[in-house]
Amino acid sequence: MGKERRNSVEPLPISYSRMSQTRLVLPPDTNHMDTIFGGKVLAYIDEIAALTAMKHSGNVVVTASIDSVDFISSAQVGDALTLEAIVTSTGRTSMEVYVKVFADNLLLGKKVLTTESFLSMVAVDRDRNPTEVPGVIPETEEEYRLYETANSRKELRKNRMRLK
Ligand SMILES: CC(C)(COP(=O)(O)OP(=O)(O)OC[C@H]1O[C@@H](n2cnc3c(N)ncnc32)[C@H](O)[C@@H]1OP(=O)(O)O)[C@@H](O)C(=O)NCCC(=O)NCCS
Repeated sequence: MGKERRNSVEPLPISYSRMSQTRLVLPPDTNHMDTIFGGKVLAYIDEIAALTAMKHSGNVVVTASIDSVDFISSAQVGDALTLEAIVTSTGRTSMEVYVKVFADNLLLGKKVLTTESFLSMVAVDRDRNPTEVPGVIPETEEEYRLYETANSRKELRKNRMRLK
């Protein structure tokens, strides 16, 4: 684990946490229809969500839950797969991360949204105990929409946990 960690819990603009990653979809990543495996996309989503939450919190994070994943369309071999992620809201120690995945056919110049996901990440200290995170400040229209709807997703998450 790193030696230095940012200590402040002053709220940060949502844009501070924004991360993106682009990968080439290769044959080993795909099924018999030449489209990417859902599990592969999930692994990429989990990775960028962790990076985004680490950037926002300045701390080590763990995935507490993958709250939702919607596969809207598929990515094909040869597509550029781009993931974009932001922290949309926070609790005391948890962060909701929103991830969008786009498939870009660079030969045709055609880009489509393939997947949307919400995850809950928790910042942990050196003893792996949950630790406080900064709040978020929404700035754009999309950020406000995601921020303002976060409570209803939190309620769904709590209800799901109550059912166990
Ligand atoms: C996530 C984890 C740190 C929570 O620890 P805990 O002892 O339950 O801690 P708390 O009850 O104090 O909860 C801490 C925060 O996590 C949130 N949380 C706990 N379980 C959650 C879940 N299943 N989904 C979403 N959020 C969750 C709580 O709501 C709380 O948020 P808040 O501080 O913003 O209010 C712990 O369960 C853990 O380490 N899980 C394993 C994580 C892991 O290994 N992930 C990789 C999976 S392969």
